[in-house]
Amino acid sequence: MDPADRTRVGIIGAGRLGQAMARTALRAGRSVVIANSRGPESLTSVVSALGDGASARTVGQASAAGIVVIAVPWDRVPEAVDGLAWNGQIVIDATNDFDPSDLEGRTSSEVVVDLVGGARVVKAANTLAAGVLGSDPHEAGGQRVLFLSGDDSDAKSEVTALFQDAGFFVVDLGDLISGSRMQQVGGPLAGVNLVRLPGPN
Ligand SMILES: NC(=O)c1ccc[n+]([C@@H]2O[C@H](COP(=O)([O-])OP(=O)(O)OC[C@H]3O[C@@H](n4cnc5c(N)ncnc54)[C@H](OP(=O)(O)O)[C@@H]3O)[C@@H](O)[C@H]2O)c1
Repeated sequence: MDPADRTRVGIIGAGRLGQAMARTALRAGRSVVIANSRGPESLTSVVSALGDGASARTVGQASAAGIVVIAVPWDRVPEAVDGLAWNGQIVIDATNDFDPSDLEGRTSSEVVVDLVGGARVVKAANTLAAGVLGSDPHEAGGQRVLFLSGDDSDAKSEVTALFQDAGFFVVDLGDLISGSRMQQVGGPLAGVNLVRLPGPN
């Protein structure tokens, strides 16, 4: 797979959040390669439910997509990405650390950056419940708001396009550390579900 191919989204983690991200990427017209720890054969029914455009592969194959979502429990992130080759992929960190006291003042995304050296990390999709994230973002005449943050402007543009194409109204919170502080558990945007209504102009 070609890391420059942003039409393919790899998803590491095939549970609630991983499947919600898969539905979002498919809604955006991307193809999806989804993976878990137990292997592609365990995902037959998941892929079947996701429908056309989705396939199950190994974690290594999912990590070779142009955009890679990390959607595993926080304490499983190190083992999930261990040994993977990162050479410019865009990584969406959709994880939540529910005990940020172990971070010694860092954001959880800084920890992820250290684990995926060579990738470009964008924090996104962690503030909404999976059921909300995976459903149609058009609601009450408006669009559901999706927050993201990151240090690489090209990566943020690609992730913005992904969520916009799926129907979200994307709000860029700025650099990774500042944004992640707002997005992560304990931050002011954690769990916040907003719909942006059309403005007067
Ligand atoms: N659920 C939500 O509403 C929600 C919302 C926002 C953010 N998040 C965040 O998203 C992440 C995932 O949460 P979830 O609710 O989707 O969890 P989940 O439903 O328990 O699913 C976890 C997935 O991670 C996979 N996994 C675990 N260890 C792995 C490894 N070493 N390699 C590859 N895959 C591995 C599991 O595969 P196996 O079963 O094969 O082990 C499973 O598919 C968490 O960080 C969570 O905080 C969740």
